[in-house]
Amino acid sequence: MKIIAVCLGNICRSPLAEGLLRRAAAARGFDWEIASGGTAGYHVGNPPDPRSIAIAQTQGLDISQQRSHQVSREDLDYYDLVLAMDRKNYQHLQALAASPEQRAKIQLLLEYTGLAETAGPDVFDPYWDDGGFAGVYQLLEEAARKVVDKLAD
Ligand code: 4NP
Repeated sequence: MKIIAVCLGNICRSPLAEGLLRRAAAARGFDWEIASGGTAGYHVGNPPDPRSIAIAQTQGLDISQQRSHQVSREDLDYYDLVLAMDRKNYQHLQALAASPEQRAKIQLLLEYTGLAETAGPDVFDPYWDDGGFAGVYQLLEEAARKVVDKLAD
């Protein structure tokens, strides 16, 4: 299984999703390929936002070695599942997709996991809100577990 988590800048939300998906898959014994990317290229080559690195560190998760990557059409071919953090990311990815096969791989994370019913459809973008990172971490941790549970069934 090859999964890519996608947000806007690939420095706040999707690096956490990548780390948490990797940990959730490994906990179940799955050797999956997990990556993340951004629809925008503003931060290409940069490490995750220090606030994402810090919140992950408090939970024993090291995401500091990740580097921001802009998602491409080739990624939509390569990965089996493309998980968008919010509806804007989802729309951007759908517009990037070149075929029905690519379009079918793109899922809105919180709808895919059933969490949208309680959390709404979007993983909140905490970039402009220092206090938002803890909630985003908690939500992504739950979502990552649900993704792995769903694919393991
Ligand atoms: P992310 O957050 O999409 O969760 O990585 C953002 C990162 C950077 C910007 C916006 C959102 N930015 O405008 O640079």
